[in-house]
Amino acid sequence: MKIFSIVGARPQFIKLAPLSKALSNRHEEYIVHTGQHYDYAMSEKIFSDLGIRKPNIHLEVGSGTQAEQTGNMMIRLEKAMGENRPDLVIVFGDTNSTLAGAVTAAKLNIQILHIEAGLRSYNKRMPEEINRIATDHISRYLFAPTPTAVRILEEEGLKENTYFTGDIMVDTMKDNIPVALKKSTIISDLNLNKGEYNLLTLHRNYNVDDPWVLENILNQLGELGEKIVFPVHPRTKKMISEKFSIPPNILTTEPQGYLDFIVLENFANRIITDSGGIQKEAYMLHKPCISLRTETEWVETVEEKWNLLIDPSDNCIVSKIRSFRVPAAQNEIFGTDVTAKMVKIINSFN
Ligand code: UD1
Ligand code: UDP
Repeated sequence: MKIFSIVGARPQFIKLAPLSKALSNRHEEYIVHTGQHYDYAMSEKIFSDLGIRKPNIHLEVGSGTQAEQTGNMMIRLEKAMGENRPDLVIVFGDTNSTLAGAVTAAKLNIQILHIEAGLRSYNKRMPEEINRIATDHISRYLFAPTPTAVRILEEEGLKENTYFTGDIMVDTMKDNIPVALKKSTIISDLNLNKGEYNLLTLHRNYNVDDPWVLENILNQLGELGEKIVFPVHPRTKKMISEKFSIPPNILTTEPQGYLDFIVLENFANRIITDSGGIQKEAYMLHKPCISLRTETEWVETVEEKWNLLIDPSDNCIVSKIRSFRVPAAQNEIFGTDVTAKMVKIINSFN
């Protein structure tokens, strides 16, 4: 088959890595990069850390408003799909690159496979929620990472299209954590002691686009009185540098490469985040996770009591963080050998 794997944002490169390697053995797989993320640390560094080959097609769309970005991607994707006529388009997760890839393929009658289907936050203030609902409903094949996602797809009338595969980020982690622990020098580079720091990331629109909300979160975390390592997403950086200063216990850094970042996760005493992928990785690495969100798509991590949701507008963030304890053991919730399962299903398509 001729396959287009469409990616554009950091978490998509991380999901693409194991699948692309497996697919390109048997299929003519084109990596199509929309250019949604373009800083070296957000894109090229992740490709090189994960040994992903260079994109076959780079659309260089860059940033913009929701409509500008999605529309420009669609225009360029339509041309690329028209010229190459793929048999299958694979889209990952819930970004604007996902929506653009899916809508463009659907209108050209090209079959779509959605990886990470069936996730819902039920919060339509998130552009991601709109992207994933639309993508699920126009895709032919839905690969669901969790039992909750399977149930949601069934409830939305999409049972026939759904395959329960598990979460592909499990394989990226398994393939890379031994290498990362061997190669990375990030702990000494940042002068950290293992187990004596928190790891923080923030990039959700509702947490970072309003400087008052962001400043309130950071000021409260300042009162935690423990070291916090904070690799700053470019969306968040724009706000911080323009509007206010940061408490002294918070050490800001550039976005980290994947290998250094999973080492930072691995040795953190807890992870504080609003990222989807990082909630999952915290669970995989047995780290207590605080999600500064009112809801999550990864409900199993909360049900298993390894992930605590705290409303970012709460003014008791620190006391809630301090009193959070995780259970002694955990159940496996994201599956194993996910890539192999996915490839087997894809190989059976005709
Ligand atoms: C996007 C995804 C989000 C995902 C996140 C992963 C959408 C709607 N959102 O959010 O689901 O969780 O990626 O990180 O698709 N910027 C740079 N350099 C870059 C990329 C972005 O400076 O390489 C800045 C630009 O000012 C841009 C802003 O960050 O306007 C936001 O980037 P964008 O890709 O639109 O959304 P993210 O917040 O990254
Ligand atoms: N990540 C990284 N460097 C960082 C922060 C995150 O490599 O400085 C990785 C992290 O390990 C995870 C993914 O990026 O695999 C999560 O992406 P992000 O938080 O940008 O988006 P989301 O998952 O919320 O869509």
